Amino acid sequence: MDKILIHGGHPLSGSIKVSGSKNSALPILAATLLSREPCVVHGVPDLSDTHYMLQILAHLGAQVERASGTVSVTADKVESVAPYDVVRKMRASVCVLGPLLGRCKEATVSLPGGCVIGDRPIDLHLTGFEALGAAVRVEGGDVKVFAPKLTGAVINLRGKFGPTVLGTDNVMMAAVLADGVTVIEGAAQEPEVVDLANFLNKMGAKIEGAGTRRVIIEGVPTLHGAEHTVIPDRIEAGTFLVAGAICGKAVTVKRVEPEHVRSVTDALTRCGFPIDIADHSISISPNGEAKALELITEPYPGFPTDMQAQMCALLSTSDGISVVTENIFPQRYMHVAELKRMGAQMQLEGATAVIQGVDRLLGAQVMASDLRASAALVLAGLKADGITEVSRVYHIDRGYEHLDEKLSELGAQIERVKG
Ligand code: EPZ
Repeated sequence: MDKILIHGGHPLSGSIKVSGSKNSALPILAATLLSREPCVVHGVPDLSDTHYMLQILAHLGAQVERASGTVSVTADKVESVAPYDVVRKMRASVCVLGPLLGRCKEATVSLPGGCVIGDRPIDLHLTGFEALGAAVRVEGGDVKVFAPKLTGAVINLRGKFGPTVLGTDNVMMAAVLADGVTVIEGAAQEPEVVDLANFLNKMGAKIEGAGTRRVIIEGVPTLHGAEHTVIPDRIEAGTFLVAGAICGKAVTVKRVEPEHVRSVTDALTRCGFPIDIADHSISISPNGEAKALELITEPYPGFPTDMQAQMCALLSTSDGISVVTENIFPQRYMHVAELKRMGAQMQLEGATAVIQGVDRLLGAQVMASDLRASAALVLAGLKADGITEVSRVYHIDRGYEHLDEKLSELGAQIERVKG
């Protein structure tokens, strides 16, 4: 297993281009199953998660071709059973359920296991499918859905932790070929949901209201092929902005939609960092010490849970006491124990982390656990005195396209050690 070594204390400067969004590319690639005709998707990031999704599509019978960031998919013949040995590697593979149900009127996918950020239920997805007329069975670790026909319905997809992103995606993708109109109440508003809806509409779907809590889908008989470029990855953009805050002289992220990272730039502004926003780029400058912050994660447009760990790394060396509350995945604190090994002073109280800023962090051997916690450890290593060794970096490779190379371009002393 590869490791990443970071020699801390080297200031970052310069600019990086943000890659295409992982969380947009995955459901859009799944949506290509809804048409027999060729689809072309540009800006697909080079990640293990996107590779897994392409493997699943190929296993399901689609012809898949990839040329750097452009993927062509033709699903003129499709099986309805997703292969366990690939599905088990990536929880997001659950988003093939919706398109398979819409296209084949049946689907079998192995249930996504839990992961380190907590239990990952799909009850809301299944409730949505049942509302459209599907029968749902869970047996032998698989979820099977079957519908003689799909009929539009009014569906509330709001759960106790708020809207579900992939649940909204899945129900949208099942409803586009249903008879009649489906209304999703309590829909997720994330930009990635809007990007998927835009792709589906290019395929001939009739979806209105994506990006609001109420999405209306008028079913159509078939969908044709389409070409699309996925939106920039707002979480990668936010991660690099935090890198610029932690140890930057002047860092600019390019090819970003500023509106998609508004809650992150607002938080960094509250921390005291000067932020300069242009049409498709954002620059951050140092301000001495970051100010302490009270941070609460919420569904979009609130502060994203996927940026919580990165902000904990920044706040660990800020002045004063910060309080971070995680409302989406209350257990999403795998990074805290590792940051404490680097000298951070943090206490967990349920879903809240109380962070006492310290003058400095010390390099240490730390272990990556989930995608964003791993990024947080790299960010802390940029700031720490000495060398930080992050193991199990395959977690990082799931969701960040060449993170170490991009940080090197900004002046970080960082190297990947093949293991
Ligand atoms: C998506 O996961 C993202 N993944 C996650 O990003 C992101 O953290 C999450 O949305 C929240 O924004 C992809 O898009 C591939 P949810 P998703 O359904 O859709 C509960 C990353 O780091 N829930 O919006 O699986 C759930 O337990 C990843 O890139 C139910 O209770 O998350 C959670 O508490 C990590 N029942 C909350 O809702 C359900 O049926 C939000 O989950 C579904 C979800």
